[in-house]
Amino acid sequence: MREKLSLTILVAMFLCACSEKARHADAYDPAHDYFSFANTEQFVTQHIALDLVVDFDTRELRGSATLAMQRLDSAAMDIVLDTRDLDIGDVRISLADGESVAAEYRFGESDKIKGTPLIVSLPETAAAAMEFGLRVEYTTSPESTALQWLPPKLTAGGKHPMMFSQSQAIHARSWVPLQDTPSVRITYEAKIRTPPELLAVMSANNDPLTPRSGDYDFEMPQPIPSYLLAIAVGNIYFAPLGEQTGVYAEPELLDASVFEFADTQEMLDQAEILFGPYEWGRYDLLVLPPSFPYGGMENPRLSFITPSLLAGDRSLVSVIAHELAHSWSGNLVTNATWRDGWLNEGMTSYLESRLMEVIYDKARVDEERVLTYQELLLDLETVPLAMQALAPRLDVGDADDFQGTIHYSKGQLFLQYLENSFGRSAFDRFLFSYFDTFAFQTITTERFLDYLDEGLLQAESSTVSRADVEEWLYQPGLPDDAPVPASATLDEAKALATAWAAGNVDITEIPLARWSPQATVHFINSLPADLPNDRLAELDAGLGFSDTRNAEIGRTWFIQVAKRRFTPAYEKLERHLNRFGRSRLIYPVYLALAENGADLELARAIFAKARAAYHPLTDARIARALETESTGS
Ligand code: BES
Ligand code: ZN
Repeated sequence: MREKLSLTILVAMFLCACSEKARHADAYDPAHDYFSFANTEQFVTQHIALDLVVDFDTRELRGSATLAMQRLDSAAMDIVLDTRDLDIGDVRISLADGESVAAEYRFGESDKIKGTPLIVSLPETAAAAMEFGLRVEYTTSPESTALQWLPPKLTAGGKHPMMFSQSQAIHARSWVPLQDTPSVRITYEAKIRTPPELLAVMSANNDPLTPRSGDYDFEMPQPIPSYLLAIAVGNIYFAPLGEQTGVYAEPELLDASVFEFADTQEMLDQAEILFGPYEWGRYDLLVLPPSFPYGGMENPRLSFITPSLLAGDRSLVSVIAHELAHSWSGNLVTNATWRDGWLNEGMTSYLESRLMEVIYDKARVDEERVLTYQELLLDLETVPLAMQALAPRLDVGDADDFQGTIHYSKGQLFLQYLENSFGRSAFDRFLFSYFDTFAFQTITTERFLDYLDEGLLQAESSTVSRADVEEWLYQPGLPDDAPVPASATLDEAKALATAWAAGNVDITEIPLARWSPQATVHFINSLPADLPNDRLAELDAGLGFSDTRNAEIGRTWFIQVAKRRFTPAYEKLERHLNRFGRSRLIYPVYLALAENGADLELARAIFAKARAAYHPLTDARIARALETESTGS
């Protein structure tokens, strides 16, 4: 593996030298957000007031957004906002004296990924205004990429509909017309009207005691980037977890959620000790139906969470530690553009591991570190070299597709490398002051690099040079001195997989009950590729993998089932694909079926039946993978 990586690095250095030239030729600007149309050098939004009706019959949000805008360039007359599939009505400008005038607007050319720019011209009467309100009346489309409208049968209770948003990376524009770039921070308020029996929650000041009325008011007084705007409406109820923490879920899932996430308050308390004050007031969780496309989403004050974490044994709560840690890395200090995503996700993965060490123990976290590292090594075999840098050139493609393990795992490993090099206490002091210095700001990788250089690299005892750090940030692969995570329990699991496959130990000697789910995952991944199917049958009968309650074990097992064409488990594989909607749990299983040389049609047939329950983003991703196979492109 090492040799392979060094060769990769050589080739990559050559390619990078070429792309370095290309960068100068067409003036790629790493600080520019290529995923937004907004002219943020001329105008910036400071506050947004939403006034929306949630209509489950038409699957629309209807109402207005009023943007408090500041003009930075007195010569600029056109404001460009991001939209996608929005039906725009009246647009008005209001001035400080209360006067309000209609403004003319037009749409620019649509882009498949970025949506449609809405260009509003400042009327003559506002020609001199440096601050003004911009009120846009609009209706969302039922196809809004940010919103999923669930019929009752796709909820746990089966009686009420539900709706939730997922704005990251560039979907906020499909439910609010705005400057949809993380480089602009806004405060917001919202008036939300829903059917009276349902509750609305937002990434704002949710009051656990709010009576159900169908009329809800929200405020988010801390400035946030647009991708953290979030809303959900449904038959949801609240249960407290701790003084400042709690969980919202459908009543059917509330008890299980309270049990699973009981450590949340403790996580928050420990996080404050490690990273600095929690700046957001309450920290609550919202457990969504299975179609929620991610493990979690760090919407401020209210992380959105997949129900697939409800394993019954608290074994998957590192996702909660992750979303909570985003309250510092991401929500407090935000990546300037999606190209700097490692500042959000890599930093958060590192903080997550630190938090898990305090709450649980180092051995458990080392297991997670090894699994993440394994996924990273696999990714490095397939991700194009140019995209293996932590801060790559990113001006084409879809911001959503750029979320592989590079930002997460290579980012985490980079910070682990810094911790190892400088010692934990020096690195912790650095992190603490990093969050303090850049609180409520958005920063680029280059700003981080300069700060690191001043704060750590120039310290007398430093063994790390700026060039070392630049290799992590701008080169593919891993540097030769990158840390290699290790775990004794995972080593044992791997050794047993080999020994059992060779017939040297009996199945009854595999201590599954004593193992963590992570060890079981590693055991499954370590089975030799040429293991005959009757041995897989023996394993499944003895250890019950096909019936596991743990979503990560299920994921790992069914990927192997599909890869190896272990057809006796196909019925349960299909059940897995119908039980979960989280992309991580199902996408690789479909892919393994599609790529095993015999089951593409089966994958398509299962997908055709299951897809109605999937989120549009997950659906699109799987559809793309299965169709790509069919056209051979
Ligand atoms: N912010 C991400 C989810 C995300 C990333 C949404 C990119 C849209 C675009 C969230 O914090 C996350 O990383 N979720 C992970 C959890 C994990 C790595 C512990 C997930 O969903 O798997
Ligand atoms: Zn994350």
